[in-house]
Amino acid sequence: MSVALAGIRACVFDAYGTLFDFGSAAAGCAASLGDKAAPLTALWRDRQLQYSWLRALQGRYVPFWQVTGEALDHALAVLGLAQDAALRARLMDLYFSLGAYPEVPALLRDLRQAGYATAILSNGSPDMLAAAVRGAGLEAAFDAVLSVDAVASFKPDPRVYQLAPDRLGVAPGAIAFVSANAWDAHAAAAFGFRAIWCNRTGQPAERLPGTPSAEIRTLSELPGLLARG
Ligand code: LAC
Repeated sequence: MSVALAGIRACVFDAYGTLFDFGSAAAGCAASLGDKAAPLTALWRDRQLQYSWLRALQGRYVPFWQVTGEALDHALAVLGLAQDAALRARLMDLYFSLGAYPEVPALLRDLRQAGYATAILSNGSPDMLAAAVRGAGLEAAFDAVLSVDAVASFKPDPRVYQLAPDRLGVAPGAIAFVSANAWDAHAAAAFGFRAIWCNRTGQPAERLPGTPSAEIRTLSELPGLLARG
């Protein structure tokens, strides 16, 4: 699935699952969750995304922080953990400033040294994104941190993807959009970005509109891919 990536001027990243590890919230409560940590992470994420898509379709936007809390409440109820208010508070605290994947700081430094503009484009609300960026010590690593909040909708609404060319002043075809969420990579490709799917867990391809230009297993592969373009 490799297509020439010549002419890229900016690298724009999805946040959750791509730069920041949403599994680290439940992992931080492993003592309380036991063998429910993995199912909680999966169900929480599934509902968080589904609620965002449904709200976007209905035109009923609320900040992603609220969506994240509502998804967690559902997931805790399914797993019989709804009564544990302290656990809920701890999980939300951890989600607010998730850890970055280990390769992220060096990658961003290398990309900027090579002359690429860098940005986040995320469903995350501005306060969540600021906290995650600060927590990972990445305050100086981005030219822009773009939240869907500016258009009051969620991915894959094309108005969200349009935020990146508008803010960076770079045409969609000169933007490498990197996401570990296959659906997000497909939608970004359909929008007109050169999309790169960071397929961390070796998932089969999705059958969705848009064709990602490339597939990588970790973000460390990105500079080499751009250099070959
Ligand atoms: C985001 C979600 C989709 O950061 O991961 O936009």
